[in-house]
Amino acid sequence: MQLSGKVALITGGASGIGRATALLLARAGAAVAIADLNAQAGESVATEITQSGGRAFLELADVTRAADCRRLVDRTIREFGRIDILFNNAGIIRRATILDLSEDDWDRVMAVNVKSIYLLSREVIPHMQRQSGGSIINTASGWGLAGGAKAAVYCASKGAVVLLTKAMAIDHGPQKIRVNCICPGDTDTGMLRVEAQQLGEANDRFLAEAAKRPLGRVGLPDEIAHAVLYLASDASSFVTGTALVVDGGSLAGSV
Ligand SMILES: NC(=O)c1ccc[n+]([C@@H]2O[C@H](COP(=O)([O-])OP(=O)(O)OC[C@H]3O[C@@H](n4cnc5c(N)ncnc54)[C@H](O)[C@@H]3O)[C@@H](O)[C@H]2O)c1
Repeated sequence: MQLSGKVALITGGASGIGRATALLLARAGAAVAIADLNAQAGESVATEITQSGGRAFLELADVTRAADCRRLVDRTIREFGRIDILFNNAGIIRRATILDLSEDDWDRVMAVNVKSIYLLSREVIPHMQRQSGGSIINTASGWGLAGGAKAAVYCASKGAVVLLTKAMAIDHGPQKIRVNCICPGDTDTGMLRVEAQQLGEANDRFLAEAAKRPLGRVGLPDEIAHAVLYLASDASSFVTGTALVVDGGSLAGSV
């Protein structure tokens, strides 16, 4: 699954799944444009890649803003000349029922998790069309395929990502642009701590509950990154419109 000569643009690349994927795709040979709001963490990922001989930069960008998405794509083309892989991964969570959720939180989650994919993809797809192909990978969630408690807007947003992925795959397949999404289960990133905090639960207890699945543990960011590498590479050349579940068996049923 080599990516030599390819260029990847990764949103939310400063931490968690995005960080692990930036490092893995760079190891596979891709030049990596990282977009995030977190300057310090994002710079450290870009530096780690460049110090190992790879090519990377951080662009501070809020992916809910059209102007930021345009600037990010313009810089990627200016510095790396093309975009072969777009990983729409930035995401946030609000653990609440609709009765406990503010309108601002509804709007923010839908903007970061869903609207950003529209804003960025519409900038990137014309470049992929000119290059005669590309691979877009969106981060959905197990909660894009099944519901969860106190996660109304998150489930709504990730369900939207799954069907947005399929609609994009249909529209852009003829231009050899493959569009897939990954559906991670609970993965050991800052997001799990945020969820525990939002629910008022102790971290240890929350993580122990999250580990209750056939493989008996939560996932590691690098394990999700390997699924992204597969979808980004030619190893998945006949795969489009799919929702790839990477969750230690959680959606297989109850344990
Ligand atoms: N961790 C899990 O258990 C899990 C499970 C399923 C799906 N996911 C999804 O994986 C993706 C990555 O999450 P993670 O777990 O790595 O969490 P994380 O919090 O470690 O990473 C999310 C990154 O997105 C960035 N970000 C947030 N809003 C942004 C914005 N408006 N513009 C640019 N960057 C922004 C954050 O700064 C952060 O670096 C998300 O889409 C999340 O919903 C995570």
